[in-house]
Amino acid sequence: VHQPLIAPSILSADFARLAQECAAVGAGPAGPGADWLHVDVMDAHFVPNLTLGLPVVQSLLKATDIPLDCHLMIDDPDRWAIGYAEAGAYNVTVHVEAAKDPIQLAKNLRAAGAKAGLSIKPNTPFEPYVDVLKHYDTLLVMSVEPGFGGQSFRPEVLDKARAARSLVDTGHLTLVVEIDGGINADTIEQAAEAGVDCFVAGSAVYGAEDPALAVAKLREQANQ
Ligand code: DX5
Ligand code: ZN
Repeated sequence: VHQPLIAPSILSADFARLAQECAAVGAGPAGPGADWLHVDVMDAHFVPNLTLGLPVVQSLLKATDIPLDCHLMIDDPDRWAIGYAEAGAYNVTVHVEAAKDPIQLAKNLRAAGAKAGLSIKPNTPFEPYVDVLKHYDTLLVMSVEPGFGGQSFRPEVLDKARAARSLVDTGHLTLVVEIDGGINADTIEQAAEAGVDCFVAGSAVYGAEDPALAVAKLREQANQ
């Protein structure tokens, strides 16, 4: 029904070779390649890890044609998220637990030409944000506690994906339902069954011998 989107997370890539790592999941003999590149921005405050920020995203935008899906795990996204949209990120996702005015934030992101994404941590409920999500283009359901790659998938979050899917299918929301954390060959099918549209995968792609082949295989599994 929905064409699955595959978004490799460069969190598990080699940060000294980012341009090549982006190219490694592009279109090629294995298939059409990544739909989006997932870029995890962490500030060591909202999450206990530190990754990269706007200067690196600006360089990535010049280094790849794959649309960038920026996942901001940072405090005060009301202040910082707009820069990523203005730089040219395709989708900019902020955490509902960190945003002070998520509706205004979505409006600002869209006005700057980006899609607006809202993320919810595993223990954050979905229902209180249904009205807020009317202003958003993507919902990022976290299936691990944000902060690190390589953690185990938490299947209980799929209830939130199912709830979002049914509100989309009944026309109450217009959202890409995205999932992030622990997605691999063993878990992607249950996420697809729950109605997820977009699958982020870090270690399952960049930990593989052939990242492009890993993307192609995940796509095939999500399509079943
Ligand atoms: C975790 C990040 C994820 C991470 C996923 O906080 O948001 O995007 O890269 O990594 P895997 O796929 O290895 O769980
Ligand atoms: Zn992420």
